[in-house]
Amino acid sequence: MANVNMSSGRKALLSKLATNDGHAENSPYFDGWKAYERNPFDASRNPDGVIQMGLAENQLCFDLIQEWLINNPQASICTAEGVDMFKDTAIFQDYHGLPEFRNAVAKFMGQVRRGVGKFNPDRIVMSGGATGAHELISFCLADRGDAILVPTPYYPGFDRDLCWRTGAQLLPVVCDSSNGFKVTREALEAAYIEAKEANIRVRALLITNPSNPLGTVLDRKTLRDIVSFINEKNIHLICDEIYSATVFGSQPSFISISEIIEEDQEICNHDLIHIIYSLSKDLGFPGFRVGIVYSYNDKVVECARKMSSFGLVSSQTQHLISSLLSDDEFVEKFLSESAKRLENRHQTFTDGLAQVGIRCLQSNAGLFVWMDLSHLLREKSFLAETDLWRIIINEVKLNVSPGSSFHCSEPGWFRVCIANMDEPTVEIALKRIRAFVVKGENAVVAPAKKKQCWQSQNTKLRLSFSFRKMDDLMMMSPHSPIPQSPLVQART
Ligand SMILES: Cc1ncc(COP(=O)(O)O)c(C=O)c1O
Repeated sequence: MANVNMSSGRKALLSKLATNDGHAENSPYFDGWKAYERNPFDASRNPDGVIQMGLAENQLCFDLIQEWLINNPQASICTAEGVDMFKDTAIFQDYHGLPEFRNAVAKFMGQVRRGVGKFNPDRIVMSGGATGAHELISFCLADRGDAILVPTPYYPGFDRDLCWRTGAQLLPVVCDSSNGFKVTREALEAAYIEAKEANIRVRALLITNPSNPLGTVLDRKTLRDIVSFINEKNIHLICDEIYSATVFGSQPSFISISEIIEEDQEICNHDLIHIIYSLSKDLGFPGFRVGIVYSYNDKVVECARKMSSFGLVSSQTQHLISSLLSDDEFVEKFLSESAKRLENRHQTFTDGLAQVGIRCLQSNAGLFVWMDLSHLLREKSFLAETDLWRIIINEVKLNVSPGSSFHCSEPGWFRVCIANMDEPTVEIALKRIRAFVVKGENAVVAPAKKKQCWQSQNTKLRLSFSFRKMDDLMMMSPHSPIPQSPLVQART
């Protein structure tokens, strides 16, 4: 110890894995969170602080959950009514999980899918949230250096979850706004061929349905195309369906991969299909760390179950969740009320943006909108996107996430989370966005002598926003009071 050169010695004391950048926390996605943490908005104590719109949390229905907890004190082991279960719950833990927990989760997955698609509790393997489930499935399917294809834009955490400790790599399947970022057979083939040419073994395709960050759902044809693609190439399909109950409105509805493979048994080798699920988004419980791998492959279930010892769900949480999800009446009410509230929030927000000509990709799922600010970039580049993002964080004081952190192929898109705050905060966020855009318009109509807020000191950023023809400004939201322009329609 005494002989160790302190700076290099300190580094050498830790593993390469622990000290490398695989956690991906250096991206703007996480930088935005840090900016929020330094100066968090609070309506009464810090009204000029940063509003957190980078966190995909579902906080719209906690009143329903709290009411259920009050009415069901026996579900908790910390109440007089439930304390008798304390000892059994405290001592029990093996990697199979409580049977009643797996039964309840399997049933809930079926309810979310409107009874289409059956789930067998014995295929459920527990993990610490979807985060742990992704790593678990990656460990099961891929060796170090193997590739997993993933359509862009995708959730930034995937780089960490599927790759950091496993050594697997993600290869992008490039999608763009010309068809609303839909994944096509051509894009899948192109990514696959590129990997082959680079001598990289492709083990799986990872899809997120409904999508984070797009908030869109995959249609039946696309899902069937995907299934036939992975079947032909004999690679696995990992389907992240953790936003399945965040779909609102009547159309398009959510179609699970389970439905596709059940309606046509011949379409695919079921051993290749694996669903990732968690209660973090659908119920709004990311803190409970309830995630699962649901695999149709017996061998994967067996291996994953052994590995799951590293990331089990606590038996106390299993106990509570199994009671909650076994209450059919509550679950039905929660699912329908949550969808209604998400729809209202989505409408309020997209209508508010439309008033200043900001468009969003048409969507009916998720806890966010995919906002197009490409018209505010000084040039069509990711550098310009980062500059604009810095201004939004530092001056407009909103933590939104730039498209580049989702590996988006086109600059100018931003993900804005809308379900992690109350209505008054949404109004304040909209007010700030409107003020920002209007200031930009005025600057172009009558060039200001003074430096405007978006003319950043060190980046020389200038907004090129100007009033265009009215129809050119209208958004893609189905709720827009003003008709969409042909230009806009072509891009969805
Ligand atoms: C698509 C997707 N998958 C996985 C996760 C991780 O979820 P969990 O909190 O269950 O680990 C997230 C979180 O935002 C996500 O958006």
